[in-house]
Amino acid sequence: MTLSAKLLETLKTKREALIAGGGADKLAARHAKGLLGARERLAALFQPETFQEIGLHVRHAGEHFGIAEKELPADAVIVGTGLVGGRTVAAISQDFMVSAGSLGLMHARKIVKAMELALKLGVPMVAFKDSGGARIQEGVAALAGYGEVFYHNVLLSGVVPQIAVIAGPCAGGASYSPALMDFIIMIRRSAHMFITGPEVIRAVTGRTTSMDEVGSAEMHSTVSGNVHFVAENEAHAIEITHRLLSYLPPNNAEDPPHHPTESLDLSNDEGMNAVIPDDSSEALDVKAVIHRLVDNGEFLEVHAGFAGNMVVGFGRLGGLVVGIVANQPMEKAGAIDIDASDKAARFIRTCNAFNIPLITLVDVPGFLPGFEQERAGIIRHGAKLLFAYASATVPKLTVVLRKAYGGAYVAMCSQPMGADFVYAWPTAEIAVMGAEGAVNILYSKELKGAENARARAKELAAEYRAEFASPYMSASKGFITDVIEPGMTRATLALSLRKILNKRELRPAKKHGNIPL
Ligand code: HXC
Repeated sequence: MTLSAKLLETLKTKREALIAGGGADKLAARHAKGLLGARERLAALFQPETFQEIGLHVRHAGEHFGIAEKELPADAVIVGTGLVGGRTVAAISQDFMVSAGSLGLMHARKIVKAMELALKLGVPMVAFKDSGGARIQEGVAALAGYGEVFYHNVLLSGVVPQIAVIAGPCAGGASYSPALMDFIIMIRRSAHMFITGPEVIRAVTGRTTSMDEVGSAEMHSTVSGNVHFVAENEAHAIEITHRLLSYLPPNNAEDPPHHPTESLDLSNDEGMNAVIPDDSSEALDVKAVIHRLVDNGEFLEVHAGFAGNMVVGFGRLGGLVVGIVANQPMEKAGAIDIDASDKAARFIRTCNAFNIPLITLVDVPGFLPGFEQERAGIIRHGAKLLFAYASATVPKLTVVLRKAYGGAYVAMCSQPMGADFVYAWPTAEIAVMGAEGAVNILYSKELKGAENARARAKELAAEYRAEFASPYMSASKGFITDVIEPGMTRATLALSLRKILNKRELRPAKKHGNIPL
């Protein structure tokens, strides 16, 4: 055998051993449970043959408890770059089959290397999390590793999109890395995420609970709001990742992947009228409106299971990527509560960071009144929504569909809050409060003495609605750009968007604003 043949043989043997990771038996056991291996996840994410690994030969730095002699292939994390839809993406995938994907210092530094590369290249970062947490044998060095990862999550934040896929356990402080990223996708059943699990909770508080109650995808997507998307299985998680990436720019200095259509469909969508209930007290389904507005009815709803009274997500209008924020009257009458404020504020900030124009659909009776809401801080949570809209410098288009009352009207990207154009349907009611409430206050004396108080109140409410709360009143004061036929909404928005896509809005220089938390 020639020298070069020997060297090639050594290279091959080393590579094969490292790529085998935890071994064929462990991989087969995972397959039997419907789970993929760390490398298989990356293979599914990227176009075939496009993955280039970084740091396959990196060795762990553990010294204690007999770990020094142990081989942990690739130090339990696969790192590199690949192509998704022809665009470069950096990714890491923790390998649960090697020491439970536990994170030691070198493991963390591999992750950080991918993040630094994502920053330098200006490309999105995807992280598959599947780990037993800090590698116990590495002690404080493992904790330092987490610190380095968190620090870089924050450096990347607002510069390149970061997507976490929670594909297995994600416990303790480890869950803060995904929490610092832009989107969390969590796989149902196979993944759990928590700061302290059931055993610690029982030991410290005495309360008995289960892994599902405090850490399941179901809980995080509907109660805590930590998770943006629930995937039914591994393939679904990849599909959601691909869809998300298709709306996001590679970095904050570039536009999202707009594919402007050559001509715009400016026809009247008569079908929109059918979506609006005849009775103004009957709730309108805003998702039906959204589906009529976006190209091919394709809408990627974000945070779908959480705070259903606010709908947020991505779509395209005439081929241009947009973020949509909408009140949903089908839930809590569309009133804005704490969770809805947080959900919308976060989405608006994500869109603004990544140059995605915002479309706001308004049908809101107000901020949700309530003892719990006040005590839980609706003031500071609601203020996040105001802060997010007012600081967003991307193109902002608003359509008032029906109700737009009080502070909630102001908050939902009204013109004084910085909307570029505000359209209203003829069904819009814009006022400090609803007609009945306003009449009770304005005419309390008259109504008290009146014989037919109820009929008179109804009459006055109708007058108030028709004259005072009408969109023409707002339009006459210049707060509404135009009153439009519902069927012309899509055409109006698509045309306006083309015109304001390249708008520039300058703000005073500052380190950062102080967003209410
Ligand atoms: C080192 C670990 C490990 C860890 C598991 N292993 N977790 N090694 N550090 N954190 C090893 C096991 O010893 C075992 O090694 C192999 O990985 C597989 O683990 P099993 O327990 O056999 O697997 P399984 O039954 O599937 O259970 C997986 C698990 C469990 C649920 C993740 O291992 C577990 O509870 N691990 C500890 C989790 C934890 O408390 N981590 C610290 C969280 S706090 P061998 O050699 O036998 O194959 C934290 C702080 C972060 O992370 C702070 C950031 C600021």
